[in-house]
Amino acid sequence: MSAHPTPQGSGRETRKVTVPDILGKKSRNDKISCLTAYDYPTARLLDAAGVDIILVGDSLGMVVLGYENTLPVTMEEMLHHTRAVRRGTARALLVADMPFGSFQLGVNEAVANAVRFVKEAGAEAVKIEGGEKRLELIARLAENDIPVMAHIGLTPQSVHALGGFKMQGKTLAAADALRRDARAVEAAGAFSLVLESIPAEVAERITRELRIPTIGIGAGPACDGQVLVWHDLVGLSFGVEPKFARRYAELRPLLEQAVGRFVTDVTSGHFPGEAETTHLPAEVREQWLSRSKR
Ligand code: KIV
Repeated sequence: MSAHPTPQGSGRETRKVTVPDILGKKSRNDKISCLTAYDYPTARLLDAAGVDIILVGDSLGMVVLGYENTLPVTMEEMLHHTRAVRRGTARALLVADMPFGSFQLGVNEAVANAVRFVKEAGAEAVKIEGGEKRLELIARLAENDIPVMAHIGLTPQSVHALGGFKMQGKTLAAADALRRDARAVEAAGAFSLVLESIPAEVAERITRELRIPTIGIGAGPACDGQVLVWHDLVGLSFGVEPKFARRYAELRPLLEQAVGRFVTDVTSGHFPGEAETTHLPAEVREQWLSRSKR
């Protein structure tokens, strides 16, 4: 029996998405869909809707935990949320983001942390921010059969070094550096590459030159796939909305309305009503009522 069972009662025939499937999509020119999830119900929803890759991103820190950036996110927080997403994911490939501090202190410790994602949380791949400077780690993970999704361009864990959440690769030198990073992570053994907030022309060239798929976020339409943060997609983010995020639903007013109606119903005594109330069986009720008069 699997240590990480598929969602109970989903009743669906599932054909699992694997790392070779993701590589195959690039060779067939099939686009790849990827969304973030941080909990069980969202994972079930995305999985049932047919998303190829579910990423437990460290964006968790900003959209769920209320941190100012992703830097405070810990291994324990990522493992906790990855386990919940694992329980809700039957079909999609499950990728866990390695948080800041989990791979900077040496390759051995980084490999040990990646192993924890696989063993303790059921992740099928890990994502690591950084290009050329992560080659040794990517190679070690690939050698040890832990698939790596690399991530270059605007890497949010570098927010202080970059001076903010700014678009990258806008000069010739910066675009060339991204191209070098992309080739290097592919050569080191990454199976896919996230390109975040870079000009479309740069992403197009990188995508054309690589054998592994690129997954864009704010990197134009030529990428082999696209990823968005769930809370941006459904209108539940509280921070500044990035230009590249398209809202497919406006859940905030809907949820605010629902909560407002609940508060009104409770304060006015309209909740719970008869439909939500259970009574004693008739014979017990009689005895109960007469007893409580004594
Ligand atoms: O943390 C995250 O959610 C990410 C994606 C936006 C790529 O890194």
